[in-house]
Amino acid sequence: MSNDYIVKDIALADFGRKELNIAETEMPGLMALRKEYGEDKPLKGARIVGSLHMTIQTAVLIETLVELGADVRWASCNIFSTQDHAAAAIAQSGVPVFAIKGQSLEEHWDYLDRSFMFPEGANMILDDGGDATLYVLLGARMEAGEDVLAVPTSEEEEVIKAQIKKRMAETPGWFAKTRDAIKGVSEETTTGVHRLYDLHKKGQLPFPAINVNDSVTKSKFDNKYGCKESLVDGIRRATDTMMAGKVAVVMGYGDVGKGSAASLSGAGARVIVTEVDPICALQAAMDGYQVTTLEDVVATADIFVTTTGNKDVIRIEHMREMKDMAIVGNIGHFDNEIQVASLKNHKWTNIKEQVDMIEMPNGNRLILLSEGRLLNLGNATGHPSFVMSASFTNQVLAQMELWLKGEEYQPGVYILPKHLDEKVARLHLDRIGVKLSKLDKEQADYIGVSTEGPFKPEHYRY
Ligand code: NAI
Repeated sequence: MSNDYIVKDIALADFGRKELNIAETEMPGLMALRKEYGEDKPLKGARIVGSLHMTIQTAVLIETLVELGADVRWASCNIFSTQDHAAAAIAQSGVPVFAIKGQSLEEHWDYLDRSFMFPEGANMILDDGGDATLYVLLGARMEAGEDVLAVPTSEEEEVIKAQIKKRMAETPGWFAKTRDAIKGVSEETTTGVHRLYDLHKKGQLPFPAINVNDSVTKSKFDNKYGCKESLVDGIRRATDTMMAGKVAVVMGYGDVGKGSAASLSGAGARVIVTEVDPICALQAAMDGYQVTTLEDVVATADIFVTTTGNKDVIRIEHMREMKDMAIVGNIGHFDNEIQVASLKNHKWTNIKEQVDMIEMPNGNRLILLSEGRLLNLGNATGHPSFVMSASFTNQVLAQMELWLKGEEYQPGVYILPKHLDEKVARLHLDRIGVKLSKLDKEQADYIGVSTEGPFKPEHYRY
């Protein structure tokens, strides 16, 4: 084992390995890809930088990429989401990993930098939220004397730029060289995908990107059914609060909002939804939720969860109106959904890791989860393995597509073809005992599809 890693405690590796072994039994998509491609090693030569929550499920993804021939280096994409035993198991397997639960922002960007340090240089990125892509592209622009990429928050912006300047001083020209060597990026989440489309629109995306989030077997499963299990898990582990009977406000009714509202409602909470999009608002209402504005309910609700991927959704004026011991958390990608920075000069009492009590000027206290960072990964262990298997099977297929056929793609943002999306779903049916019906030729002709699929046109919305 090399010592090219930073983890909390390498002695946790055995525990990590035991949980990894269990996770493998719940990740049939990834295990099927190992069986199908393990011998051919289609990712041989790929040097993949991974920037994605360093959990047990991600460990199974990493070992799948390695089994398919890739060299991999890994950092987490969030300061609170690492599972230290998973990181230890990966380090012990010889894969360089740089991730500690509760790392500082400075460490976060230093660890991301380290994950790029292949002796021969990185040539692929696997991203979640776009930090690895941003690091290279913003760095290359700063090297060239331009500096015009949007970054998440002002506090973070300073830290990112300091890390970029450090690398520029140590290795002049490194960013441009790395940017030119990257064959492509596969992006996991809605927020990262927004960044990629934005970069492409501005003519600032120099390589092809695969939007994994918008595979149906990703966003309609991980974002929805994943949050349905992991949101309440996070709130319970953080607070042990009784969910039944409480009034919970879910801000946003996209895929994550739908799963989050279902999670809270399944636990017996009375759920209220806020939305800006009339289609999603109508969906929420017809799913049985009250839909109103945050201002209407802010003084009376017990639990507040942002799911929008937007910024400044819960603002300081809202938090000032909340009742004593209201619980406030976010399950979207970045912490700027809640104006946490505006609470900095209030009295904070740390209850335990990733749980703080904050005293407001009127004497009311708020319970803030994971300092406003995504609470299902900060306060619990994220989504279960089975749903992550679907997401990560898409990730591996995207990496293979970009590595093997990257030259056929112009810079831009692409989604995987529908037959691969259907393949990902198919790989997960046996594990839960699903039997598919079969179309005969006449039926297939009648509805205009092939008997083997794809079964839906591109515009179908599921
Ligand atoms: P989405 O685009 O499907 O849904 C977001 C919804 O929020 C939209 O319907 C939008 O109209 C609404 N919205 C925007 N601004 C709003 C405002 N000010 N008030 C009320 N509603 C507002 O996006 P999706 O896929 O649901 O993702 C949401 C966020 O969650 C993203 O940041 C994504 O990266 C993240 N995510 C987090 C996961 C986790 O495990 N914590 C898993 C998957 C995604």
